[in-house]
Formats: sequence, C-alpha cells, structure tokens
Amino acid sequence: MRSKLGVTAAGAVLALGLAACGGEGAGGSGGAGGDAAPEDLLVGVSMPTQTSERWIADGNSVQEQLEGAGYQVELQYANDDIPTQSQQIDQMITEGADLLIIAAIDGTALSSQLENAASNNIPVISYDRLIRDSENVDFYVSFDNFQVGVAQANALLAGLGVLDRNGERTDVAGPFNVELFAGSLDDNNAHFFYEGAMSVLQPLIDEGVLTVKSGQTAIEQIAILRWQQETAQRRMEDLLTSTYNDGSVVNGVLSPYDGLSRGIITALQNAGYGTPERPMPVITGQDAEIASVKLIADGTQNSTIFKDTRLLAEQAVVAAEAFLEGEEPEANDTTTYDNGVKVVPSYLLPVETVFADNIQSVLVDSGYWTQEEVASGQAQD
Ligand code: BGC
Repeated sequence: MRSKLGVTAAGAVLALGLAACGGEGAGGSGGAGGDAAPEDLLVGVSMPTQTSERWIADGNSVQEQLEGAGYQVELQYANDDIPTQSQQIDQMITEGADLLIIAAIDGTALSSQLENAASNNIPVISYDRLIRDSENVDFYVSFDNFQVGVAQANALLAGLGVLDRNGERTDVAGPFNVELFAGSLDDNNAHFFYEGAMSVLQPLIDEGVLTVKSGQTAIEQIAILRWQQETAQRRMEDLLTSTYNDGSVVNGVLSPYDGLSRGIITALQNAGYGTPERPMPVITGQDAEIASVKLIADGTQNSTIFKDTRLLAEQAVVAAEAFLEGEEPEANDTTTYDNGVKVVPSYLLPVETVFADNIQSVLVDSGYWTQEEVASGQAQD
C-alpha cells in the first residue's frame, strides 16, 4: 500500500494550495506529515444518517475520542442522501481535512471524492461499511459481518427450538414457516449478513425443517433499500396478504437490523400476531437499538446482535492516529474484504447475541444502556 502521508514537496504544496482556497483548513498549515501536532490536524468524519441510533453513537464516539487525542474534527451526517454525502466529503477536503473516516451510504458512489482525497494525500478509513470499487481506500474498520449473519440465523433457530442454547441441534424437526429479510443492496455489509445467515439456514431449508413459504430467498427479492423501517413493514404486510391468507402462520422472521424488525413487528401486530392465540414469530435484529432492547425484554422480539460502537470508534481512532503519525495501522484481517479493486486491510471486531436473559450482563453492565433506558425503551442524554 502506498503511504499517503509521506511529507512530499508536492503534497505540501497541494495542501497549502487547498488551505488557501478553503479558508481555515487545519491540514494545510501543518501538512499531513508524521510530525504535525494533533491540534493542527483536521479529521473529516462522514456518517450516513441520524435516523438510526447506532450512527449517532458512532459519530459521537469517534468525535469524542479524536478530540480527546487533540485532533480537530468535522462530523457530518448525510441524511441517507448520496449527493449530500458526496458534497459533504468534497467540502471536508476543501477545508483541508488531513484524514477522512467514512461510513458510506452507497458503497460504490464515492469514487470521485476518493480520487480527490488520494490526489491530496488524504488517507481514507472506511468505517463499518466497505467502500467498493476504488483503490483509494486505505483501511477498513468493522465487525465480523459474516459472523453477524451466522449469529442471526443461530438466534432464529434457537428461538424456534431447532438449536439448544449451546448451539446443538435438538430433535425439533419443524417444519417452520420463516420469511427472510436483507438490508440495502448498495451496502456491502448486507451481502455479508445474508451470506452468513444463509450458510446456516440453507441446509435446514433443504432438509425441510424450515419453509420459506413466499419462496423469496434471493437477496434481490428480500432486500430493503436504505434499511427503511416502513419498507420492511410494507413488505411484511404484503407477505401476510399474499402468502399467509390461508390460515397458515409465520413462525420466524430473519431480520438483519432492529429498525426493520420494528417495521416487521408492526405489520404482524396489525395482523393479529402477538396474542396468546397467535404468538409473535421469532424475530431477530441487529444493533441493540434501545426501542428494540425493550421489545426483547418484553418478549416481542427474540434477539439482536450487539456491536459495540464505542470499540469500533476506538479502532477507527487508533488507525487514524497511525496514519497521521506517518505509519500503517495494524490490521487483523488482510484477506476477507476485497472491494472489487483490492483487498482492503481491515480491523474486525467480534459481535455478541443479546436475548432477554443477557440484556443485563451484555448491555447494562457494560454501560451501553442503563436499566431505566431498557425499561422505557428510550435513550436518555
Ligand atoms: C451496519 C448495521 C446497521 C445497518 C443499517 C449496516 O451497514 O453494519 O449495523 O444495522 O447498516 O444502518
């Protein structure tokens, strides 16, 4: 990998030029070299949306930790709008950013911004979602996304009783009616979650333990654009009217994200699920969003996958500091994340499945949510 932070004459001249046209840019003065003081360096942080709690938590953690290390930070949210994100990143470069941390809305849509960054010697850290089809991505910090899908599928099976809590097969043979949901096709993670889940579920579908009654199992058929809760609710409503209007019931739903799970739950409740006669299906999730943690505590949602955004932010900051000190960050995976042009060196964190009975030990004891927040389903400041 080429180092973008070597203090080259050309780089310094470019940076100065940019600072001149961009006004108060921090990076121009110090140059993006290893010997600049943190106070003289600006990190641009581009997050996709504020409609999901996790990205707000990510943004806040990254900002706090970078500022704690002395850096200047510009944090922007793009409202799930691709042109807004592109424009915000362009603006950060113009303002003299020395490094960019980007969680992309559409993993393929930022090529020209990244070219611009590369030609200004600005390292780019792809945050949680891999930026694809560009060689100008220097590092990737995320979770083990395939494992997220595996964990979701295992939680679904445990909820149905097909697996016991140790993950061993029981003699419960079904058949269970399940429906599958996936995330946004333009998010590289959605494909990893799906592949991970199907690695577990497909053999059981083949065996006849699980039946996808709608027949919709291809990712293109089950994907939810931009991870929108309303879109998931509508798809679940459509499935109920098209496929379960013959008295049959849904026993399980693979949902890759808590926001989607809440839409799915609303559709099911509107159709009379969640009563003693018609129990809620086993529904999975991801992100441990507070409204969903309460639904899990109440027994409405089965589980979620907890990804500690504080730790992810920490890894992003460790990688950022390495680049800004003129070094290469340490990767723990150099094979998995091929972005279509190159394998991006990555640092991947493990994930944890949360059921009703470990909310306390995983989420409350670690300080992620308080007991009051879990009880009310609302985050407090
Ligand atoms: C993230 C998930 C999140 C989803 C929707 C994915 O890229 O990895 O944690 O649930 O986006 O925001």
